[in-house]
Amino acid sequence: MTTTFHSEVNVKVQFFDELQKNPDVDVIVLPFWQDDCKPLPIFDKKNLHIPEVVFDPIELGDFLAKEDEIFLVCVKKQRFLLLGLGKKDALTPHRIRASFSCVSRKMMELGFEHISIIVTTPLRKYFRQVIEGVFLANYRFDVYKTASKKDSKRTLLKKIDFIGVSQEFGQKDIAFVKNLTSGVFLCRDLVNGNADDVTPEFLCKIAKSISNVKTTCHSKSWLEKEKMGLILAVSKGSHHEPRFIIMEYRGNKKSKERSCIVGKGITYDTGGLSIKQVSNMIDMKTDMAGAASVIGAIKALSLNKIPVNVIGIIPCCENAISSTSFKPGDVYTSYSGITVENTNPDAEGRLILADAIAYANKAFHPDFIVDFATLTGAIDIALGKHAIGLFSNDDHLAKKLTKAADRAGERAWQFPLYDEYKEPLKSEIADIKNWGSRSAGAIAAAKFIEEFVGKTPWAHFDIASCAYLEDAPLGHLSRFATGIGVCLLVDFFETICQKDK
Ligand code: BES
Ligand code: MN
Ligand code: ZN
Repeated sequence: MTTTFHSEVNVKVQFFDELQKNPDVDVIVLPFWQDDCKPLPIFDKKNLHIPEVVFDPIELGDFLAKEDEIFLVCVKKQRFLLLGLGKKDALTPHRIRASFSCVSRKMMELGFEHISIIVTTPLRKYFRQVIEGVFLANYRFDVYKTASKKDSKRTLLKKIDFIGVSQEFGQKDIAFVKNLTSGVFLCRDLVNGNADDVTPEFLCKIAKSISNVKTTCHSKSWLEKEKMGLILAVSKGSHHEPRFIIMEYRGNKKSKERSCIVGKGITYDTGGLSIKQVSNMIDMKTDMAGAASVIGAIKALSLNKIPVNVIGIIPCCENAISSTSFKPGDVYTSYSGITVENTNPDAEGRLILADAIAYANKAFHPDFIVDFATLTGAIDIALGKHAIGLFSNDDHLAKKLTKAADRAGERAWQFPLYDEYKEPLKSEIADIKNWGSRSAGAIAAAKFIEEFVGKTPWAHFDIASCAYLEDAPLGHLSRFATGIGVCLLVDFFETICQKDK
């Protein structure tokens, strides 16, 4: 099986002042917003010389320009796609992103490769979101399909003309979004890939392939030397050895500021000796999505040369079942020295994060730590697919992250961390146990991690419900692996730098 997948961002972009008479263009995209329940074009009809019949679906009431609505019209062998953006006063950056992602998906479904998009004045201030929508949805993962079974009609967009945007205005945003997309696609590929392909060692290889980042991959003997008892415990049952990846990106060498982003890298979660039933186990190749977000984000930060210093810390191992698996009831000693009673080997994510975060603190003294983890099924019960869970010991940091999440269209919602939530984690035999009760499961998991954070400002994102979508895609988040976390992190760090200036 292939282990070299790596979705490329392969789209050529051109800029034109006016609509070109180009027979190679498959579809011309015309955006509309909805005002008084009537579609209003976001462009000057006269200047663009669009045949009047294109607007017939509006006259007939077949096209209303509702959010994400699309309508394809053919006139003299030229196709026009009417795109609805919803109500004008409800227009948000994310709404634009979501609508334009529908364009890519429709083009993919129909097998078109070359489109022209009209982006005149009202849309120009949202140009970045327009291209984010188009680029981020232009993704498909089919490396495990044999060539003969691949749908030959289903290609990806290869060429996009922007009408009404000058090269001087648009070029920088295009370059930025291409780099961002490259990080998001890497993240998605890693999550979509087989667990037997995306092993701890494979994650090391990928992390090392990212340029302008100093990556160190530590092996089992290092973990033993450092006494990372919790990562070693979780990894005991697997023949894949654990790895501990450190990615140092120094985008601002003059500055002493630095932060750590930590990602849960469980390459497969069987639940260990507390084995999962098959319906819950089936998606567990995705349990390294936090790790993938960190790798993807660092790639995007580095490609875009964002002037920040960020250290990615990624504990990787498999939570497998065998005679050597770590045992329920046994006590293990963490890197920080705190002893942990293993009351549930399926609560393994918090264990590896505890060691990784304690190490991040000790080795790097970061200004703050942010972690991403597919940590609990409970977060799906609480928030479903429409927001990720945020937990923090620092409201200022949480606020900044929430704002970045909103802007990036990867919404986060903050939970409380009242000390009472720690009660069920009291252990009779050790300092703490990793699982106490089902009640407030996502918060209890965060409370466990908090024990290992110390005084450093810290935020934890539980992405278990949003990292992988079985059903319809949501906005720029594609079906299956969504790549969630990458856009959020890049926006967050980009904003930090702008404030410093
Ligand atoms: N990896 C799972 C959480 C998960 C669930 C991720 C669904 C993605 C989709 C985690 O390690 C786990 O098993 N959590 C348990 C926690 C419990 C044992 C306290 C869960 O959610 O059931
Ligand atoms: Mn688990
Ligand atoms: Zn897990």
